[in-house]
Amino acid sequence: MTESNHIPVHVAIIMDGNGRWAQERGLPRIAGHKAGGNNIRPVVRVFADRGVRYLTLYAFSTENWNRPVAEVSGLLGLLGRRIDRETQALHEDDVRLLHIGREDRLSKKIGQKVKDAVELTRSNTGLTLCLAFDYGGRDEIVQAVRQIAKEGVAVDSIDEPLFERYLYSRVIPDPDLLIRTGGETRLSNFLLWQTAYSEFYFTPVLWPDFGSKEIEAALSEYSRRQRRFGGI
Ligand code: IPE
Ligand code: IPE
Ligand code: MG
Repeated sequence: MTESNHIPVHVAIIMDGNGRWAQERGLPRIAGHKAGGNNIRPVVRVFADRGVRYLTLYAFSTENWNRPVAEVSGLLGLLGRRIDRETQALHEDDVRLLHIGREDRLSKKIGQKVKDAVELTRSNTGLTLCLAFDYGGRDEIVQAVRQIAKEGVAVDSIDEPLFERYLYSRVIPDPDLLIRTGGETRLSNFLLWQTAYSEFYFTPVLWPDFGSKEIEAALSEYSRRQRRFGGI
């Protein structure tokens, strides 16, 4: 097998640890979210250079609405500004942007910014950057079931490939490698269906500190994994 066979096609990341990064420095949690946001571009670049085709980033879960109002509005504000500031640069890097998650609870303004960024970059052929925002794996499955029921799909025609076409992630392959920063070893409602056979990599490094050294370590560990998909 050549080296390139060991590069994951799709890497999904749970970007955790922003709050603790800030607390360690005596800063407000939102400063950690800002630092975490600043880390996205460089990380995208490294994965793109290493030949990864899809990168999905978990930025806000359906449960993150339960945080204090000030933190939630801070996070939404950062998302809007991040899109304003970086869409053009990502476009120039040939990155295609996608969003997975609910659209109905974002403000009109932010919802429109997301749509415009996706539209602007839709024909790009470089890395696909998929932003999971107001995303929950259970929510995704429930909305798929509701849509299937609404359309009156014949029961006997429901199988795994059909079901997948109703998920937010329908246009992207399942993640090969799932990375979680920040030391927790759980999924927190991320890509429940799609990670059935993903390789998991957990690191204590907090998201704002996750850089090329950690990426190389994760890719190197992945290249040593033996995936069997239930075979032998
Ligand atoms: C991840 O960082 C970002 C979001 C969940 C929005 P956290 O805010 O969860 O950081 P910790 O886990 O409290 O350190
Ligand atoms: C998961 O992190 C969600 C994101 C990184 C966006 P959380 O910090 O919300 O997860 P828990 O609460 O520790 O499980
Ligand atoms: Mg956290």
